[in-house]
Amino acid sequence: MPIASPIHPNRRAVLYLAGSAVAFVALAASTRAALAQAQPLKIATIGAGREGGALGALFVKAGHPVMFSSRHPEELKDFVAGLGPLAKAGTVTEAVAFGDVVLLVVPYKAVAEIGKEYGGALAAKALVIDVSNPIAARDGEELVKQVNDEGGAGLATQKALPGAHIVRGFNAIGSGQLTDLANRSGDPVGIPIAGDDQDALALASRLIKEIGFEPVVVGGLAMGKYLVPRTALGGVHTPAEIRQIAATLK
Ligand SMILES: NC(=O)c1ccc[n+]([C@@H]2O[C@H](COP(=O)([O-])OP(=O)(O)OC[C@H]3O[C@@H](n4cnc5c(N)ncnc54)[C@H](OP(=O)(O)O)[C@@H]3O)[C@@H](O)[C@H]2O)c1
Repeated sequence: MPIASPIHPNRRAVLYLAGSAVAFVALAASTRAALAQAQPLKIATIGAGREGGALGALFVKAGHPVMFSSRHPEELKDFVAGLGPLAKAGTVTEAVAFGDVVLLVVPYKAVAEIGKEYGGALAAKALVIDVSNPIAARDGEELVKQVNDEGGAGLATQKALPGAHIVRGFNAIGSGQLTDLANRSGDPVGIPIAGDDQDALALASRLIKEIGFEPVVVGGLAMGKYLVPRTALGGVHTPAEIRQIAATLK
């Protein structure tokens, strides 16, 4: 005669699922911790225009394999050939599959679309650096209002990419200046970053240092609203200046 389990089958199923979820989260966390130490890291860019191209090139120079992506990857052939064997071009799908770290460098109106198509895969990445800015002239007044209503670019990106480990950064340094400003002699250029996930912030900080800038954490993703051009934090500042400015913002 079977011995009745003291746990109801439904309760057992719930406990099993809860156990599996805990195990999955623990595995994801340990994978991310291992990636934080990994050298080099596979980096993907979604968007390989002016900013995505310049930023990705700095990571190639620092020794990381980078896949630059476009909806027309054949147009990137000459660009990646000029960067050497660490650089590749691919479709967005290929880049998302390739990268442990993803740089999201697209017109902001594309962010929601990318979230719908790749949100699940992006949530599994160690880090998504959100470089994209909502700009009325390009993305439309309505989108900018919607982003503001959602608390600004950091929180709006998180809403579009649920579960992703997002850090906003590099949002207000012009693509044409990036190469000259990296490893500048004297005071390094500070890169204000904002994020809610400590591991993602640590990994972003490491990568930013590797390409010759000094990361400055200015707060959680809610502070991402200041990491756009034409705010006090926009443009080129030393780390000390960024800390001083950030202390006056809420
Ligand atoms: N330029 C700067 O100095 C600078 C500085 C800081 C931040 N930013 C921000 O970075 C973002 C990109 O600016 P950018 O100047 O580099 O623009 P850009 O030169 O026009 O490049 C835009 C890139 O986004 C890609 N893209 C557009 N829609 C897409 C979609 N639906 N799915 C996938 N990829 C898509 C384009 O790829 P396709 O080849 O597929 O069209 C292109 O590679 C913007 O949000 C901007 O505000 C720019």
